[in-house]
Amino acid sequence: MLKDKKIVLGITGSIAAYKIFELIKYFKDAGACILPVMTLKATYFVTPLSIEIACGNKVLVDMFESPLSHIELAKKADLFLIAPATANFINKYASGIADDLLTTTILAYKGPVIIAPAMNWRMYESPQVQKSIGYLKSIGVSFIEPEEGSLACGEEGKGRLAEVKKIYEIAISALTEKDLQDEHILITAGPTRQYIDPIRFITNKSSGKMGYALAKIAKRRGAKVTLISGPVNISPPEVDRLIMVDTTLDMLKAVIENIGDINTLIMAAAPLDFEPEKTFKTKLDKNSIKSIPLKLCPDILKEIAKTKKKLFKVGFSAEWGFNTERAKRKLKEKALHMIVLNDITGKHGGMCSEYNEIIIIYKKGNNFYQEKTPLLTKEEVANIIISKIRELKLGK
Ligand SMILES: Cc1cc2nc3c(=O)[nH]c(=O)nc-3n(C[C@H](O)[C@H](O)[C@H](O)COP(=O)(O)O)c2cc1C
Repeated sequence: MLKDKKIVLGITGSIAAYKIFELIKYFKDAGACILPVMTLKATYFVTPLSIEIACGNKVLVDMFESPLSHIELAKKADLFLIAPATANFINKYASGIADDLLTTTILAYKGPVIIAPAMNWRMYESPQVQKSIGYLKSIGVSFIEPEEGSLACGEEGKGRLAEVKKIYEIAISALTEKDLQDEHILITAGPTRQYIDPIRFITNKSSGKMGYALAKIAKRRGAKVTLISGPVNISPPEVDRLIMVDTTLDMLKAVIENIGDINTLIMAAAPLDFEPEKTFKTKLDKNSIKSIPLKLCPDILKEIAKTKKKLFKVGFSAEWGFNTERAKRKLKEKALHMIVLNDITGKHGGMCSEYNEIIIIYKKGNNFYQEKTPLLTKEEVANIIISKIRELKLGK
């Protein structure tokens, strides 16, 4: 997703510098070109050799080793990210000091800058650092706030480098074109539960990963996102509204309550289709029951159709094999604009996996069209689904 993007990664003399290897791996996996610049003090914490190997590009430290490298770097970078950023660096950058390669290059740079500070809480709270941060924010520099927690010095407080995944997400978002700013997308994700008694329930294997990836990508591309999620074991992405639900009825109610200001609905959740006919109010004795009769749960898409709300509606169809006939029927019956077929028998894709291989089916006039993706990460698949929605909505 970051193919052809050039990121200058500035590393300064903080104890958190070792965390940057993980960040470099995320960037490399996404196809970015990382151009590392270290301060001399940073080389006390991690070796330039290791950073060079991790990035696959030469590390620059000394301004005089390769004259004009500061101008060359400043001209070609798409993003300047300083992580971890010391108090010293932040204060120097705010004052316009240019006494090493990093501070000189960033002074010559005209594009987006993101700074992830890491330092002892006393340093972070100091009026000098806060004044510098305030000033830099006022000239458009973005900061990723450090976190509270135990610090390397043994103290507790705000100063830990933000989670590497968060830094990655903010950087990738800064590099992503915001083509969905007019969209408010409601996405459902994960399974639901239907209770037999207060502590026993039936559910399914849905992990929520596909819906969460869709929410993350939609947000990254500038959409307003409401995410309605069943119970899952993964952390939610940053969205505008997150609603956690339990049962299919809860999910239906949450969708109806939040449908007001949305223009696209993506039903990536796998709400249960059936539930016990009766939910017992107290814990059942194991000898008191011989079978559990089931009945159908409410059908969320059918209920939404009753609201007559004008929406671009996308459904998901979990199929045993790539059975497009059933998916096409569902597309018609539920008045969807698009349906995404998942093969849940797939060895590497489908439920729970980090990967997915899908068929997108949509109608133009009376004709069905279908497009199959190869096996990709769920984020890559999400990008394709969202681009297709955009294309169909724009009538392309
Ligand atoms: C063990 C050790 C850990 C340090 N960790 C930090 C840190 O996390 N954040 C910070 O702002 N300074 C930290 N410092 C102080 C900086 O290394 C020092 O201010 C240095 O001049 C920063 O130089 P630079 O900004 O050019 O990299 C640490 C110093 C030592 C000796």
